[in-house]
Amino acid sequence: MQHSSVEVLGEAIPNEYWYVNDTHGRMAIMTVQNVRSSFLDFFQRNEHHLVSSASLVPAEDQTLLFTNAGMNQFKEVILENNTRNYRRAVTAQKCMRVSGKHNDLDTVGRSPWHHTFFEMLGNFSFGDYSKETAISLAWSLLTEIWALPSERLRATIFKGSKDVPRDDQALEYWNKFLPSNRIDELGVAENFWAMGDAGPCGPCSEIHYHLGDHHPCTATPCRGTACDCDRYIEIWNLVFVEFDRQIDGSLETLSSPSIDTGMGLERITAVLQGKESNYDTDLFTPLLTAISKRVGIPYGDRSASDESMRVIADHLRAMTFLIGDGVTPSNEWRGYVLRKIMRRAMRHGKTLGVSEPFLHSLTTTVIEQMRHAYPTLQPSRDTIVKTVLNEEDKFDMVLNAGLPKLEDAINHAKIGSSVVPGGVAFKLYDSLGVPIEFMEDLAEERQVKIDRSEFDRQMDTQRARARAGSGFKKASKTFSWVAPEAVATELNQAGDNFTGHLETTSTDVRVLMLWGDDGKGCEKLEQGETGYASLARTPFYLESGGQVSDTGTLATEDSLVAIVEGLVSQPVRTVPRVHKVRIKSGCIARGTSVTAAVDASRRNEIRRNHTATHLLHAALRRVLGEHVTQAGSLVASDRLRFDFTHQAPLTTEEIDEVEQVVSTQIGFNTPVQTEERLTEEAISEGAIALFGE
Ligand code: SER
Repeated sequence: MQHSSVEVLGEAIPNEYWYVNDTHGRMAIMTVQNVRSSFLDFFQRNEHHLVSSASLVPAEDQTLLFTNAGMNQFKEVILENNTRNYRRAVTAQKCMRVSGKHNDLDTVGRSPWHHTFFEMLGNFSFGDYSKETAISLAWSLLTEIWALPSERLRATIFKGSKDVPRDDQALEYWNKFLPSNRIDELGVAENFWAMGDAGPCGPCSEIHYHLGDHHPCTATPCRGTACDCDRYIEIWNLVFVEFDRQIDGSLETLSSPSIDTGMGLERITAVLQGKESNYDTDLFTPLLTAISKRVGIPYGDRSASDESMRVIADHLRAMTFLIGDGVTPSNEWRGYVLRKIMRRAMRHGKTLGVSEPFLHSLTTTVIEQMRHAYPTLQPSRDTIVKTVLNEEDKFDMVLNAGLPKLEDAINHAKIGSSVVPGGVAFKLYDSLGVPIEFMEDLAEERQVKIDRSEFDRQMDTQRARARAGSGFKKASKTFSWVAPEAVATELNQAGDNFTGHLETTSTDVRVLMLWGDDGKGCEKLEQGETGYASLARTPFYLESGGQVSDTGTLATEDSLVAIVEGLVSQPVRTVPRVHKVRIKSGCIARGTSVTAAVDASRRNEIRRNHTATHLLHAALRRVLGEHVTQAGSLVASDRLRFDFTHQAPLTTEEIDEVEQVVSTQIGFNTPVQTEERLTEEAISEGAIALFGE
């Protein structure tokens, strides 16, 4: 055991952290809490002002998605536009690296060292101390306070570029601590740090730790920090902020350079605890244990399930902190990234066999562990749990109905062209609500592509159709069709029980759920009110493939109760469809039985127009060529529209000819017959499959 002290900037710093020796020379028994607090203590003792972590949502910087470095909150001070009443600061800063210049999202799970959310320990000087002091402070903390063996440390310096000279000063200072063969000179990519395309930047000096030569390296000899092998790990970045890069790319020299350093808490903890993965430290093990227990699969056998559990652990921390900082899942900007992270974690949960919401309960493990360091988490506990549960509920159907189909499509692509056709993707979106970004995320992970341009084309067509269609679509986007837990189970069990291909009237149908006009669940709807109803089964056709929804009535045994004005298009078709109802007389209550009757003559008109689209399609193929395929359609009771692509507008003669072919067929009045066949068999006999059917 050892106990040491160090003199830095005239202050004696007792080392209160104990170590036991192991075969690597030493092993810390510091907890992650000790690591964080000893860093903050050390710099406070060296006259740094302790500043709290800023929010993950940058307060005044609309150009930055999330706080991605400790220096963000000091940007204006560094750029000399602002001052504080201190010139030295120390922080443990919450960071997210999920976009732009600093993006680690795609390495999470695979890499032992990268995260979406992490804590950055940093010390800062705003025009106060020099590069030399920054280097000697860093060296003291690492080798004296934390007692890392100096022979395992290496440093890098900036070798220079066309507009910034080599960092000779950093080389000179490092030479006091390290032999020349352990100081590497690297270029702009590694040793010139910039917050973004414009703003504070400057040469930097990284400190790397030698994990050991048992890691493979293809270079002989290994080039140390210049190598891309796993023998070395970067632990600390000291940035000497000397410039403010302008929008035009030019560098403006700051009158008094700042120091901005950043060290990932997760990594330095792994190094201090003698681990070769951040996930093996006490920062992650409680969370991984909780996840493993929840999914019923042990963690640690280095299998694919380990990777999924690491992704879940990382993303759980990210979602907990983001929601804690006021971000809510949405389809835009910051909310969108949060939603993407949450959905990715849900997907990995599903891969591990979890079919029901589970993340929300695990956020409490994160809160429990981090609440002392980040006291604002605990008061947000309920919001965090509820927000995650709500998002999990919303995505439940996509995971359980859509994901297996997406997996099939991707597997199919993998053995073929490596491209999932846009039509297949569109169908997954259209019928099961699978978001395109979610599909692309999984496709990228499996190294296949999705034909995005075809997907977008079909999407545009559908939007155009929606604009021409009923106004009810909007409601489905606004409402989330939430039902009490017991009812939700019943709705799930009932599923989308459509009886309309057999009958137009269904008797003794139970009303499972009602919603008011505002989308809020209710027990009954009364005369004069409008609202929404889900039935245990229904003969009402829901708008799909361009064919409009049915209309009709709901009646109790003795009287007509409600007019069904249409149905609401829902992203998920495995729950009962929602009928838009107007109560004519009496009232309709949840749990009552009704007779659901489709307006059969209107349905027949729609059917005729549906058949006419097939006639039109066939005629177009005959007149214009086999390349004509349906890109969309509208089939209503009084009209039809057929979208297709062709290289030129139709001539009058072509239009006449198409009309002629269709009219002749109508004149034959051939009865329509329904035959059920296997897809392949039907296609080989000439049936046309659209949209990846
Ligand atoms: N700003 C630098 C980085 O993020 C040092 O903190 O690496």
